[in-house]
Amino acid sequence: MIYLDNNATTPIDERVLDAMLPFLKNYYGNASSLYRLGRLSRTAIDIARGQVAALVDIRSEQVIFTSGGTEANNLALTALPPQAKLAISAIEHPSVTEPALQLKNKGHGLSIIAVDSSGYIMQEAIDGLLQCPPALVSIMLANNETGVVQDVARYAGQLRAHGVKVHTDAVQALAKMPVSFKRLGVQLMSLSSHKIYGPKGCGALVVEKGTAIAPVLLGGGQEQELRAGTENVAAIVGFGKAAELAKLELDARTEYLLKLRCLLEQNLETIPGLMLFSRDANRLPNTVQFGIHGMDGEMLLMRLDQKSIAVSSGSACASSGGKPSPVLTAMAMDEALAKSAIRISLGKTNTEVEVIQFINVLKSLLCQV
Ligand SMILES: Cc1ncc(COP(=O)(O)O)c(C=O)c1O
Repeated sequence: MIYLDNNATTPIDERVLDAMLPFLKNYYGNASSLYRLGRLSRTAIDIARGQVAALVDIRSEQVIFTSGGTEANNLALTALPPQAKLAISAIEHPSVTEPALQLKNKGHGLSIIAVDSSGYIMQEAIDGLLQCPPALVSIMLANNETGVVQDVARYAGQLRAHGVKVHTDAVQALAKMPVSFKRLGVQLMSLSSHKIYGPKGCGALVVEKGTAIAPVLLGGGQEQELRAGTENVAAIVGFGKAAELAKLELDARTEYLLKLRCLLEQNLETIPGLMLFSRDANRLPNTVQFGIHGMDGEMLLMRLDQKSIAVSSGSACASSGGKPSPVLTAMAMDEALAKSAIRISLGKTNTEVEVIQFINVLKSLLCQV
């Protein structure tokens, strides 16, 4: 099996699994319990909080552990004050767009920030927003489909000067590029564990001191009373370990992924009718999305699956709907080309041999249609 869908999820790192196992077997104490077994869990959570904080350049107490990026994004939007206006970019993950639409249905104003054909936020759209500034803006740091990285620091600076709070979804950017909460200048940032070789079902919302959010889950005092529920200690320990490894290995991973991506792109570009999306944009080192004129992306995905190659035909959540991806639609892409989209997201366990095997299989499949 050649797994080329690391933006959907990553295989767990063996070292992460080793760190987690004791908390699944022997150290099962509830972190709120006062006896030794409970205190062991509490200490493990504190260590993990420090590891996640170190990766994104913040203090530990700014990390609110959640069940993942989806919950972190939902929680972030609670920073919108009553009656206030919200703005989100046109290419956000559904875990931002759907709560935003719900807020709109409840009477909040909602503006959508346009992107250009490369997938970049348009400065004119930000300038337009500032005519009548919203209270909260959500702009993702890197897109899950195209891999395009936004200049969040620049927009956050402009918005902040007008008293606007900024949230960034850094789920895809984390561990693929340096992510400094301070340098981004945002007030809220979402993270997820399973995109960085950690376990699924764990993530965090980073909150700047003084930024008010309201808990989505009620019924316990955990996570500074912002996220009730007994902590998933093993998963949190795994997320912490994955963050520690990412910090240590970021440069080496980036260099390796860029080498693989370059090999992949050079070979893809020899295929007639194939178009690389956002080719010249600043993209994550692992992500390549392309379309092939006259092809159906879902069908190609299934044929690759039959050859034991896992790719995505766009965002995992949008696949199977039969509609072109909302991200590519926002980039004003031709509908037929958008429907032919295939996303390759490389990971640290992929090899050059796998990239070449993928290319060979792809070429042979294209000869058959
Ligand atoms: C950009 C982005 N944000 C949020 C999420 C949701 O994260 P999780 O799967 O941890 O809920 C994803 C997952 O695909 C994502 O790509």
